[in-house]
Amino acid sequence: MIKKYIFGAPIETEAVITTIPECKDIPEAGIISLDNGFSWTYTMADDDIVYGLGEANRGINKRGYIYVNNCNDEPLHTEDLESLYAAHNFIVLSGRRNMGLFFDYPAKITFDIGYSYQDTLTVCCEGSDLTLYIIDGTSALDVIRQFRKIIGRSYIPPKFAFGFGQSRWGYKTEKDFKDVVEGYRSRHIPLDMVYMDIDYMEDYKDFTVNPQNFPDFEAFVKDMKASKIHLVPIIDAGVKIEDGYSIYEEGKAGGYFCKREDGSDFAATVWPGRTHFPDVLNTEARQWFGSKYKVLTDAGIDGFWNDMNEPAIFYSDEGMDDLQAFLKDFAAMDPEEIPQFLLNDKVNGIKNSPRDYAAFYHDMDGIKVRHDKVHNLYGYYMTRAAGEAFDRICPGRRVLMFSRSSYIGMHRYGGVWTGDNKSWWSHLLLNIKMMPSLNMCGFLYTGADLGGFSGNTTRDLLLRWLAFGVFTPLMRDHSALGTREQECYRFERPEDFRHVISVRYRLIPYLYSEFMKAALNDDLYFKPLAFAYPDDPMATSIEDQLILGNEVMVTPVYTQNAPGRYVYLPEEMLFVKFMPDGSIFSEIMAAGHHYIQVALNEVPLFVRKGHCIPLAAPAETVDAIDTRNLELLGYEGATYTLYDDDGVSKDYDLAGHYKTYAK
Ligand code: GLC
Repeated sequence: MIKKYIFGAPIETEAVITTIPECKDIPEAGIISLDNGFSWTYTMADDDIVYGLGEANRGINKRGYIYVNNCNDEPLHTEDLESLYAAHNFIVLSGRRNMGLFFDYPAKITFDIGYSYQDTLTVCCEGSDLTLYIIDGTSALDVIRQFRKIIGRSYIPPKFAFGFGQSRWGYKTEKDFKDVVEGYRSRHIPLDMVYMDIDYMEDYKDFTVNPQNFPDFEAFVKDMKASKIHLVPIIDAGVKIEDGYSIYEEGKAGGYFCKREDGSDFAATVWPGRTHFPDVLNTEARQWFGSKYKVLTDAGIDGFWNDMNEPAIFYSDEGMDDLQAFLKDFAAMDPEEIPQFLLNDKVNGIKNSPRDYAAFYHDMDGIKVRHDKVHNLYGYYMTRAAGEAFDRICPGRRVLMFSRSSYIGMHRYGGVWTGDNKSWWSHLLLNIKMMPSLNMCGFLYTGADLGGFSGNTTRDLLLRWLAFGVFTPLMRDHSALGTREQECYRFERPEDFRHVISVRYRLIPYLYSEFMKAALNDDLYFKPLAFAYPDDPMATSIEDQLILGNEVMVTPVYTQNAPGRYVYLPEEMLFVKFMPDGSIFSEIMAAGHHYIQVALNEVPLFVRKGHCIPLAAPAETVDAIDTRNLELLGYEGATYTLYDDDGVSKDYDLAGHYKTYAK
């Protein structure tokens, strides 16, 4: 049961695509105040759980903290950080009442979930123009599935995107890319994708390729394809201001960039230097920007990642002018009188400043809207630009696409990666906890930078993180410029990495099948344990084990120097370990608490009682997986219905894609 309430005159975000009649009553759940902006306050019962918020900090149960959805380019994801890159304004209360709330409001919005008062949930926005959807259901999962239905089917990538990908900020030349491929292939570590970070471009200009480093890009892409490698270039939000650069010239001539109040094009400095932001909230500008991806698809590219689309601003023209004026005054000040933190605050405050976000405008098809009122839509609409363009450029075929910034609605056009994490064990745990929440909000094709983006990784962290990444739809090792080299072959005993990643490839038929079922049925790929075992009170408090699809429970090890971990089994299950010699260890374990031993080069999983999963022979690329000869792993007498297709067409709903196997 879904009720839709409209307050004021909300901006149409197109997050929800189902027509739902407006309910004119006052919502009976919670107390609404329109005195100072909008707020919704609800008293939680002691054991109510609050799920949702997608890409957000902390746990699966969001109680006990405050979250500010205001897409934020902040790479230091400490435990107290309130805003990450995305704004997924959907929460689900589970307990006394199973109720979902989607606040369709594209500006800054705060979710105080028992932070100010332990039992009080308050959601507030500065403005009061929004659409609120309240969904009642029989369980949290039921609420989520109703929500997923009204926001439309989740993005489905091509099948190759379930392979393993290597990325690093800093690969520049053809040789750099070939060396990575050689590094993997020569050690027989499976690999399907190599990501191209900003250095493939000419001076960080979108839709250009550096001609010195790639004298014949098309031939290079072809060459890579012949070695079964998909190159996946990055596209940034800012378009470099440079006379003669065709994208800049076209954007300027078409009036396609975001404007200041006075109508001039707003300028912000990002990687390429001074840039303009394409006004992707304007249909014509969006079509124009989207059509540019063709420059790369024409060269054979079939995947992209959209970045810096909060949009990130290192500084604006105005911000820099201000800072320079301040520094002049500062230099003239008496050092004795300078407040301690003034300089730091002033210099740091120039980045992603609220003042800048309030200084430019969108032309939303005739309506002039100040950016900060729709800030959280930018990444969504940049990715929508690409998604809509792909339908024109290569109709009927899937293109790999994921974005850093997002809002609900974007889940129809692409997946997400969770941005600039660190090589910290705590970020491996955060990755585990974030996955089901993202799924609840429609984002199924998701993953984190395995091994950690900034900071120096360690061999054991990378191995443990990969052993979890085996299960995340997006499995990518990515690291920042200047950090320790993080490709799997850089470490001692690369055969351990080969083994862990090979397990992924053995599981791809299953993972892909469960992903597709989740996408096609508005279901979750990763669920909290409580969703599968609603009557088990212990299951509700477990956040470091996940149910994958319908058959599997994953129990990653996320602590350094730990020889294994404690696990909780709500029922009897089959414990499986993929051993480094290629064999499979399995043992039935009774319900309850256990300590499982897991060596660094082993991958553990549990098969749920009465189930089985298909397993392919090891392969080095997705293409080479033999899906016709699958063995079944699990309980005798169990059956499994496999979904499979050609991995590129969009004829998802054919009955012929399903085949049932019996063990
Ligand atoms: C941003 C991205 C990161 C990328 C870097 C350089 O920090 O989040 O993934 O490597 O920019 O493009």
